[in-house]
Amino acid sequence: MPPPTATAKKTTKRAPKPAPAPEVFKAAASKGKPAARIVVGDCREILPTLPEVKKQQLDLVFADPPFNWARDYDRDRTGEAWDDSAMTEQEYLGFTYDWIDACHAGLRDGGALWINIPDDWAAEIVVHCKRDLKMTMVNWCVWHYRFGQNTKSRFINSKVHALYFVKGNAGKRTWNADPILETSDRRAIYADARTETKRDGVPPGLRVPMDVWYGKYWGRIQGNNKERRHKHDNQLPEVYLERVVLACSNAGDTVLDPFTGTGTTGVVARALGRKYVGTEYARLNAERALQRIKAGPVRELGTSRGMSTAIHAPRRGSSPNAP
Ligand SMILES: C[S@@+](CC[C@H](N)C(=O)[O-])C[C@H]1O[C@@H](n2cnc3c(N)ncnc32)[C@H](O)[C@@H]1O
Repeated sequence: MPPPTATAKKTTKRAPKPAPAPEVFKAAASKGKPAARIVVGDCREILPTLPEVKKQQLDLVFADPPFNWARDYDRDRTGEAWDDSAMTEQEYLGFTYDWIDACHAGLRDGGALWINIPDDWAAEIVVHCKRDLKMTMVNWCVWHYRFGQNTKSRFINSKVHALYFVKGNAGKRTWNADPILETSDRRAIYADARTETKRDGVPPGLRVPMDVWYGKYWGRIQGNNKERRHKHDNQLPEVYLERVVLACSNAGDTVLDPFTGTGTTGVVARALGRKYVGTEYARLNAERALQRIKAGPVRELGTSRGMSTAIHAPRRGSSPNAP
């Protein structure tokens, strides 16, 4: 006896539900300030969906990623905070290469990528950007601070690396030296007359900052520092982003930060007339960062411009910031 014909069950085929659109916090362009927005989610997933990335319109990317140091990036613990201690070394490097590649894909030819990173991962990142992505490394800067974590068992960490790469044709990179000049040691310490008559194209007594960054306002944002945003660990000083944004982008350019955090990059970029787009994993951070971006910098931009960073007292009657 043949088996009974199976009566086909009537099924209504449903298309898979589209993933919900990520939440976006936005500030519209107003009073000469360009638009800014922060998209909530994992930058590795969000970046490839952004129009600026698809069209390779990013002029500058600044990235200050989680360091895998078990830092609390959202002390309110709303459930969507990034777990900064969950990865093995190999996993962390895989994560790192993924977000770097996603940023690199969105840069224009000659666009700049800056990465703020501690000793642990700097070497691997340099090799990846130079060897695998064929980027040009323009500078390996160091952000030096005086209040590192105390220890007796090794030298105390007092720096983070600020790595500066350019995609593709380095001849097309944006470089503005004038707005970031500082008083030279020759003027500040030695009152050396030669610095007042030099003909290197830089105004008398000034110089392009060296590749080790420190000085007034350059300390870690801790304690009662007036820039400090509460409920967030690892905020960068405004002067740091001011230097990077001024040197490596122009007004009207597009600046991206995949790890928005408290929004320092966005605050400075928008205040300087650059369009800002950021991604941020923790919704609460994104929301607060946008409020900060709208409010603008705590310190007036330009406050530290032209200052001396000399570490020796003036000799021969010079004063540190004499014109
Ligand atoms: C070191 S903090 C950035 C601080 C920022 N530079 C500032 O000055 O405020 C890193 C930030 O990246 C966020 N984050 C971590 N993993 C992420 C991911 N995969 N995608 C997007 N954001 C992420 C964290 O929630 C944290 O706010």
